[in-house]
Amino acid sequence: MSQYFDLSIRRIEIKKPKRDLKPVIKLQDEVNKTLLHDEYYYPTDERTIQECLDGDYILLGVYNKDKLIAASFAFEGGLFFSKPITDWMEIPGNKIMCHEFVVVDMEYRGNGIQKRFMDATIREARQMGYDTIWCCAHPNNTPSVCSIESTGYKFADQFVVDGWPRNVYYRSTSIQR
Ligand SMILES: CC(C)(COP(=O)(O)OP(=O)(O)OC[C@H]1O[C@@H](n2cnc3c(N)ncnc32)[C@H](O)[C@@H]1OP(=O)(O)O)[C@@H](O)C(=O)NCCC(=O)NCCS
Repeated sequence: MSQYFDLSIRRIEIKKPKRDLKPVIKLQDEVNKTLLHDEYYYPTDERTIQECLDGDYILLGVYNKDKLIAASFAFEGGLFFSKPITDWMEIPGNKIMCHEFVVVDMEYRGNGIQKRFMDATIREARQMGYDTIWCCAHPNNTPSVCSIESTGYKFADQFVVDGWPRNVYYRSTSIQR
């Protein structure tokens, strides 16, 4: 990419009652076709995202002009393979948010967008009163693991469910030194 693009993060406006998630779903579908290995990323379906919009959530995007080229979604609680994460493991904190997904269009990777999404999400979650945030990644999904670890998340545990290995990470939303 030789051209300059403004890669600033913006909030994706989801207006009630019309909650148009089409650009996010379209981007996820495109990204899904570019995975090095299928098991690196499992798309979150539209219905699940819609349901999560009823509670607290942080939905962020990066645009090139009007085209969504990266998206990030976090919401309260969070399920890990259909069960609350706290059924799988102990996570400290009273108010827990899950950073569910980050997807970046192939053409715009290599700009550290995931890390910036994670930093912005932690900041926002803190302002919303959440004290802990968790996420997971396939252990060999190097860009994702690098971004998660460089954002200050600590590895907590690894699970393999139905052949899908996942590292779980969490961190406090407080400012770390
Ligand atoms: C994961 C994803 C969001 C990361 O996109 P990105 O923000 O553009 O990531 P970058 O290419 O900037 O890489 C992030 C870090 O990983 C490092 N990295 C990337 N590929 C690497 C490799 N093959 N070997 C070593 N380090 C690598 C980069 O150097 C960078 O580290 P730095 O910040 O210390 O420089 C993107 O690859 C994607 O959309 N993948 C498919 C969906 C997915 O897996 N989402 C995450 C799971 S929720």
